[in-house]
Amino acid sequence: MAETAPFWSESERVRNAIVDMLLAAEDGYVSGQAMSESLGITRTAVWKHLQHLMELGFAIEAVHGQGYRLRGHPDILMAPLLRRRLPSACRLGQDAVWVPRVDSTNALAWQCAREGAPHGLVVSAGEQTGGRGRHGRSWFSPQGGLWMSVLLRRPIPLSRAAEVTLLASVAVRRAIGETTGLWPGIKWPNDIVHHGRKLCGILAEIRADGEVVEQVVLGIGINANIPADAFPPELRRTATSVLAETGTSVDRVALAAALLAAFDPWLEALADDRPAFAELAEEWRAANVTLGRWVRVATPTRLLVGVAERVDDRGVLYIRTESGEVCAVHSGDVLF
Ligand code: BTN
Repeated sequence: MAETAPFWSESERVRNAIVDMLLAAEDGYVSGQAMSESLGITRTAVWKHLQHLMELGFAIEAVHGQGYRLRGHPDILMAPLLRRRLPSACRLGQDAVWVPRVDSTNALAWQCAREGAPHGLVVSAGEQTGGRGRHGRSWFSPQGGLWMSVLLRRPIPLSRAAEVTLLASVAVRRAIGETTGLWPGIKWPNDIVHHGRKLCGILAEIRADGEVVEQVVLGIGINANIPADAFPPELRRTATSVLAETGTSVDRVALAAALLAAFDPWLEALADDRPAFAELAEEWRAANVTLGRWVRVATPTRLLVGVAERVDDRGVLYIRTESGEVCAVHSGDVLF
């Protein structure tokens, strides 16, 4: 499990508060004394937390008689860094846990859920040692990627659970487009692809009680700043990254904030049983790379071969097979 304590640990809370104070001072200084008084800890303890932050990549300048000043910060989804990029009305991402390394952010998010974490908690990591993909596959998760899981605690009708990942795929595509200028395609149900190579995968794990989904851990893995040659040879034909496609690193905090801000109201619509995917179907269709193509679809029960004809307002895919039969596919993997 995580190498650090969960999000409500005292050290995490104190470090977040220190970063908040440094950020609030903008270009000014915050004295060690002021931090120590406001946090109720000794100046030595303040200094230890500052050292820890510097080890994480925060550039903190100390000037005798003036205090500490923030000169730069790492591109990580630590709560204070993420929160300041989000609209205040966004319910997702106001709480966040970032760890340098974890087996799977989805697993850590479930642990946080069991310990009472709130709706919208974002769990992310610098790297994953056991990243989970769909259908029990593993997910290559080195440094440079955006590996995050969002804990959703809004009840959703089970019949509409599939919409969660479809909505997330539109949010991810929009966020990548807005922050990088690269507008990738969406392969049904929720792969984000560029020229046939995968840029992002989405894995939603749900806990349902009867007909209601009570909790979802929405895992999103974006191959953000991974150099092309960092992919193992067996993935090079099927995977790519934002960095490999654009030649530029993307600001992962901005990327995550953009996707959370887009996704938040859509999730609320779903929780209120209002139209959700239906409202975005045009955008999805314009971005999709699946419809109109001859495909093979591996469903949980069989392999279908035919033309991907349409997607309805709930995100169900319809395949017209060679015999003319039209089959509705609620979940599966599309293979070209
Ligand atoms: C897929 O197979 O396409 C889904 C991949 C999902 C990967 C992400 S990375 C963050 C989160 N944590 C995990 O262990 N998996 C998801």
